[in-house]
Amino acid sequence: MEFEQRFGSPRPRQFFAPGRVNLMGAHLDYNGGPVMPLAIDRGTFVALRARADRRLRFASTFSTESLEADLDELPPARSGSWWDYPLGVLREVPVNAAASGLDVLFGGNLAVGAGLSSSASICVGTAMALSEVWGLDLDPMARVRAALRAEREFVGVRCGIMDPFAIGLAKQGSLLWLDCKDESTLHLPLDFERVSLVVADSGVRRELAAGFFNQRVDECRRALEILKEAQPDAACLRDVLPETLEARRGALAEVLERRASHVVGEVARTFEARDALLEDRPGDFGERMTRAHESLRDLFEVSCVELDCLVETAVAQEGVLGGRLTGAGFGGCAVILVRRGAEEGLVARLGEVFRARFGRETAVEVYAADRGPREIEP
Ligand code: GLA
Repeated sequence: MEFEQRFGSPRPRQFFAPGRVNLMGAHLDYNGGPVMPLAIDRGTFVALRARADRRLRFASTFSTESLEADLDELPPARSGSWWDYPLGVLREVPVNAAASGLDVLFGGNLAVGAGLSSSASICVGTAMALSEVWGLDLDPMARVRAALRAEREFVGVRCGIMDPFAIGLAKQGSLLWLDCKDESTLHLPLDFERVSLVVADSGVRRELAAGFFNQRVDECRRALEILKEAQPDAACLRDVLPETLEARRGALAEVLERRASHVVGEVARTFEARDALLEDRPGDFGERMTRAHESLRDLFEVSCVELDCLVETAVAQEGVLGGRLTGAGFGGCAVILVRRGAEEGLVARLGEVFRARFGRETAVEVYAADRGPREIEP
């Protein structure tokens, strides 16, 4: 197998961490709002084996570049390479002075940079693998925290808390309800006997996506500063009441008004979606997803023509409950909730329309929910 080819030693231990889609609560995590992500059956594999010395070797099936370092002399800063993610995690876990070196191979079946959280997947997977191999006994929450700090402090992305929580706390057959203001969580059942998830990749990857993302974070912060003048108790944009926004619209620059309107509307929609799920109204849940997409397109301005085409085509199709872009946007994937039995027609239709309009193929697949990070047979 590939591990043996790369490192010349057989029988590694192997771990899997899923990716995620977020069904509701778009761009709410860094605004203190509620989110509803779901772990998916595509993710990252981490195969590793302890060494007799203190050398560290990180290789990936996605890249020819690899890292070689000494545990006692780790690179002090990010390099811009893929290994910044696992290295950032390693720097966050309590490494014992006697810990062995490691050979580690990363791989996976998750599209990278497609809004499915490949970065949190590799970080949470690394935290679990290191914890198990070094006997660190990190519980799921400690692994989530290490993953989050790695991305924020070492890699330097101002991401919210949703992705590592969605992956690290996943439970089979459940959506995660995460309130990002107080970090409380609830597992909500989604009935996969009756509905399926279809994920369609727009194929668009924006090099500048991190820059656009940080810009949105900044716009939300600026909108909050102004709205706070009218509602001083608002600690985050999620706290801003619709009536405060209404009264202060004129005080906000147009672009900030659009960003704040998305957040205030999405908070309300996400609570409505939760009620719809709890009251077994999947149609109403799906309808909130589609409204969320429209708001991401018109008010938050993070969609693109390919994603709009996928969502519009999907929701016009028999059996589709709703659809929206997932992740930060600016390209990446659309996620569609569809009644069981209608998947095949939808996959065919999306492929056909996308090909006719853009002259290229789109990857459209049915995804299943996943039960979270775990050790697997290599
Ligand atoms: C990216 C970020 C998340 C979240 C989403 C948008 O995936 O990493 O923290 O902000 O975008 O909902």
